[in-house]
Amino acid sequence: MTGTALVTGITGQDGTYLAELLLDKGYRVHGLAPVGGGGHVTDRTTLHYADLGDGSNLGTLLDQIAPDEVYHLAAQSHVRLSFDLPVYTADITGLGTLRLLEAIRLYQERSGRRVRFYQASSSEMFGKAVETPQTETTRFHPRSPYACAKVFAYWQTVNYREAYGMFASNGILFNHESPRRGESFVTRKITLAAARIKLGLQEKLRLGNLDARRDWGFAGDYVDAMWRMLQHSEADDFVIATGQTHSVREFLDEVFATLDLDWHDYVEIDEALFRPAEVDVLRGDSAKARRVLGWEPRVDFRELARLMTEHDLKLARAEAMAAG
Ligand code: GDD
Repeated sequence: MTGTALVTGITGQDGTYLAELLLDKGYRVHGLAPVGGGGHVTDRTTLHYADLGDGSNLGTLLDQIAPDEVYHLAAQSHVRLSFDLPVYTADITGLGTLRLLEAIRLYQERSGRRVRFYQASSSEMFGKAVETPQTETTRFHPRSPYACAKVFAYWQTVNYREAYGMFASNGILFNHESPRRGESFVTRKITLAAARIKLGLQEKLRLGNLDARRDWGFAGDYVDAMWRMLQHSEADDFVIATGQTHSVREFLDEVFATLDLDWHDYVEIDEALFRPAEVDVLRGDSAKARRVLGWEPRVDFRELARLMTEHDLKLARAEAMAAG
């Protein structure tokens, strides 16, 4: 179905990829951005501002935009930061989702229209994972204020589906990265630093736990899964993952080797970057999404590391040129 889509968090990594995908499919795309928020947005999308900690203008915005599909990507999404800002994270990431769901429910009642809702749920909900790989039926054991807030939002989404018959689906996405990834997440932090080290712009790279293992995919592949979920005949919950797991150490190996460098010469361990509770290993089983939605990831771990490194090498070259 093509129509009007509203994407919250449109200035983030996933928001920009999703907006491009929807525009290519012929949607009218509206985005919600945080007040004062910047980022890369194409001029083919209409931007609105809302504060998910307040939510009072969400109803008015829904009346104005009249969306057929809402993709809720906005969140305080940094796990480490959520330990410093637990209440803020619960408010934006947890209650923010509830404010939006309730605004949509009331909008549907007022207008008599149906909205399809996508919730950006997270593999962080599995946390101290009780089984590997994780599927749609794996029990949650969140290990951070962020993950707790995501579990709350997950169940609110399920409850709006069951209680009010809303078309509301959870995509349980494992880590997904790209050249547009925020610079404080570990993959991008590594590719940016490695490229700058290669060009003599930086000497050291400070990191936390190198033993953590994640199931890393490419964000461009993952936004396609979001769209597929809302085109499906019924609302449901889906794990989106590559099925492969790698350590931070292996990501370092891959990136520095591409640049003919040995990361042991540059990486320093900083205790402050460890988390009070860590998620040691995540690996997802996306068999259901593959079977029901016909989705599959296209970019593997090596290719992901390569494309991010090449992108950041170009950035570093531009920086070096500008510095003379
Ligand atoms: N950010 C960061 N910075 N992480 C580091 C560092 C560092 O310097 N050093 C080691 N790590 C480790 C973290 O301890 C964690 O185990 C792993 O690298 C990945 O960290 P992040 O890239 O920050 O991602 P995340 O796994 O905590 O969370 C991301 O993925 C989730 C999906 O599973 C975020 O995008 C979440 O919003 C998302 O829900």
